[in-house]
Amino acid sequence: MQPQPILYRRETPADYREVENLTREAFWNRYAPGCDEHYLAHILRDCAAFVPELALVAVSQGRIVGSILYTRARILLDAGGALGVLTFGPLSVLPSHQRQGIGGQLIARTAAMAREAGEAAILIYGDPAYYARHGFVAAERYGIGTRDDLYRASLQAAELRLGALANAAGRFAEDGVFDLDPAESAAFDRLFPPRLKEEDNEFQRRFRDVLAMARPRR
Ligand SMILES: CC(C)(COP(=O)(O)OP(=O)(O)OC[C@H]1O[C@@H](n2cnc3c(N)ncnc32)[C@H](O)[C@@H]1OP(=O)(O)O)[C@@H](O)C(=O)NCCC(=O)NCCS
Repeated sequence: MQPQPILYRRETPADYREVENLTREAFWNRYAPGCDEHYLAHILRDCAAFVPELALVAVSQGRIVGSILYTRARILLDAGGALGVLTFGPLSVLPSHQRQGIGGQLIARTAAMAREAGEAAILIYGDPAYYARHGFVAAERYGIGTRDDLYRASLQAAELRLGALANAAGRFAEDGVFDLDPAESAAFDRLFPPRLKEEDNEFQRRFRDVLAMARPRR
């Protein structure tokens, strides 16, 4: 079957529920039994760190099949002070539409928009095997670790301006919105049709392996 053309456009409030459904579809059982990312998408839009200008959806035949949401984050610099950076997540593509380049397009298009807007860099947590294809390198390369001062393979960085991270050694700090309340997340999930939770599948095992790739920064 011929792939359908994909339209990329800014997310609007009218899309929120459809994006949350899509996010749940994409993340369900992927990193843990069930998922919290649809709840994260739900609360992100109300937080001050949310960047609506970079919230993009991919639409196929009138249906949202992909979404990327950005927030502002900081690198707490070893030298003192902080550098403002961007982070994205959730990044979601409907399972039926994965491996058609939609995830890559959502990253490339928003990175170009952010570069145009003068942003310094994007840092994210994700699978290095995927993000290496999209211009990301281990944040460790710039001396950047996690907030709790670890070098993690899952922490990935992409400069939007050449040299933007050259003197950015420090600790990456996401907005507090990422510290989800599990009870609130579970309550939100009950608004959706029930789905079976799966323990210990292949994706969850891979994720555990990636998470285990960590060592103290100093
Ligand atoms: C990750 C995700 C957004 C990629 O979207 P996509 O539209 O399928 O991405 P693209 O088509 O641009 O790229 C797909 C390629 O990346 C690969 N890929 C996807 N996820 C990967 C991962 N975690 N590790 C390594 N490779 C991965 C696919 O195998 C595919 O490669 P192939 O075509 O050579 O087989 C999508 O798989 C998804 O929604 N996953 C569930 C949610 C998630 O993990 N989001 C990212 C959180 S950090």
